[in-house]
Amino acid sequence: MNRLKFSTSIIEIIQRRYSCRTYKTESLHDNTKRNLIKFLQADHKSPFNCGTRFELLQIQELDPKVKRQLGTYGFIQGAKNFIVGATKKSKYDLENFGYVMEELILFATDLGLGTCWVGGTFKRSKFAAQINNITDNEAVPAITPVGYAAENRSKVDRLARWAARSKKRHPWENLFFEGDCKYPLTRERAGRYDIPLEMIRIAPSASNRQPWRVIKDSKNFHFFIFRKRSWYSSLLSWPDFPRLDLGIAVCHFNLTALERGLKGSWQFIRPEITTPGHLQYVISWISK
Ligand SMILES: Cc1cc2nc3c(=O)[nH]c(=O)nc-3n(C[C@H](O)[C@H](O)[C@H](O)COP(=O)(O)O)c2cc1C
Repeated sequence: MNRLKFSTSIIEIIQRRYSCRTYKTESLHDNTKRNLIKFLQADHKSPFNCGTRFELLQIQELDPKVKRQLGTYGFIQGAKNFIVGATKKSKYDLENFGYVMEELILFATDLGLGTCWVGGTFKRSKFAAQINNITDNEAVPAITPVGYAAENRSKVDRLARWAARSKKRHPWENLFFEGDCKYPLTRERAGRYDIPLEMIRIAPSASNRQPWRVIKDSKNFHFFIFRKRSWYSSLLSWPDFPRLDLGIAVCHFNLTALERGLKGSWQFIRPEITTPGHLQYVISWISK
């Protein structure tokens, strides 16, 4: 399945991706633009299975007044193109959006383009207005610039990376567990799943919070969101970033497992294991 979408190993692409906030002013090459648009318009499936659609916004084609109103508060510099997506509101809309948008980001990375998940630092309503026939039942959780990375990062880019400690990731023992979440899962005990889990560990997340936790139970893997505060804090602001992050983690795990020939299916069956209250169950990979 991967081979149809990506020109090289998904592991290599995931390792290559980083948040790029500074772009060359060069336009997208015609062939690259064509491939990107074709991929954006394809039917994207995820284990969460909700309606999403994506468009390539070409800033230089906009009316100058509209152009001025779009904003990323100085975080993104030089970008002439953005991928803007809308999701229909439903139970797993944000997890689905996280999954599908990350697949697009990995596809763009494979094409040699820079990207950056932007969920907070942009004028949401102005970008949403650029989506064809957007309805009241649709929302824009995040966007990404897409273009050729500049050689040097802008000051704001460097500051954003420093503030989020973007280079760092939690070690395995903070993220992956066995049994009733009491024992850290070692790479040895993860067996053939060590690489799919490592691809989760290096995934992007909002403010680099890495809120995914995975519990191995026999041959199955259960995915949870780690809530620092109580679950209802997630109702106070939109979008709920950890749900987008969880979708990204599932995307990395799924694409890597597929590439490595690991067989399984995604199911919503809360396992009968005791977990601390700050873990919110989302989905499970059931090995075949
Ligand atoms: C859902 C989501 C939302 C994000 N929103 C923003 C944002 O609004 N502005 C920004 O500069 N970076 C944003 N980021 C980028 C993260 O800060 C970045 O992924 C993290 O620091 C890890 O760095 P890396 O992507 O270079 O590996 C977001 C990332 C994710 C996954």
